[in-house]
Order: sequence, then C-alpha cells, then structure tokens
Amino acid sequence: MMNNINYNRNVLDHFRNPRNMGELGDADAEATVGNPSCGDVMKVMIKIRDNRIEDVKFQTMGCAAAIATSSMLTELVKGKSLDEAGKISNEDVVVALGGLPPIKIHCSNLAADALKLAIANFRGNRK
Ligand code: FES
Repeated sequence: MMNNINYNRNVLDHFRNPRNMGELGDADAEATVGNPSCGDVMKVMIKIRDNRIEDVKFQTMGCAAAIATSSMLTELVKGKSLDEAGKISNEDVVVALGGLPPIKIHCSNLAADALKLAIANFRGNRK
C-alpha cells in the first residue's frame, strides 16, 4: 500500500521512528479516538504538572500517516501549558510535518482531537 503514496521525509521519519510511543503508567488523563472512515484508533496519555504537559505518550493502531501525526503531536505539546496544547489543531500537526498527501489528510484527524479529549478528561476528573 505504502509504495503508492508519496510521504515526505519528515512523515516517513516520524513513522519509522515514532517519538513518545508507548504506555504512560502514571498518566493523569487519557483519551482514545477512532477514525470513522477507516477504523484506525489512537490513544493518548498525558502527565500533567503545574498545568503543563510534563509527559505524553501515544499508541496508534493505524496507517503511516496516523502514526506520524500522533508522533508529531506529542513533540508539539510536550512542555506546553494545557491551554496552549489544547489550541493545537489537526491542521497545525499536518503543517509541522510538512504536509500529507491529499488522500491521507483524513488520517490527521486523530491526534489533536485525542489530545483535546484527554485535556477535557483531565479537567473533568478534577471537578
Ligand atoms: Fe486510517 Fe490513515 S487510513 S488513519
């Protein structure tokens, strides 16, 4: 499948060497989102300290673009305040990766959405 799609170097790098992939045992919040168009799933876990994302990990069962966007998202949000991180959009992640092939844009819908949900869960849990 992959050989029909021209991913840029940055996307391939994040796919082959995903950053922050795995489990976060002591996560303060997590969220799982699915992509209805293909069934792929992403889980994001966050560790919060002083209202900042101290650590973040992800697990994605999905295509190369889904894994690359998950990986890039974690790099973008680590160390950011919850407010800053919550403003990052799916499109911001695609731009940070240097773009995705048009037929793979829908794959970028998981990462930022999952993070927003995890932040909402964190805030909800504290109430
Ligand atoms: Fe499902 Fe890419 S094909 S996220």
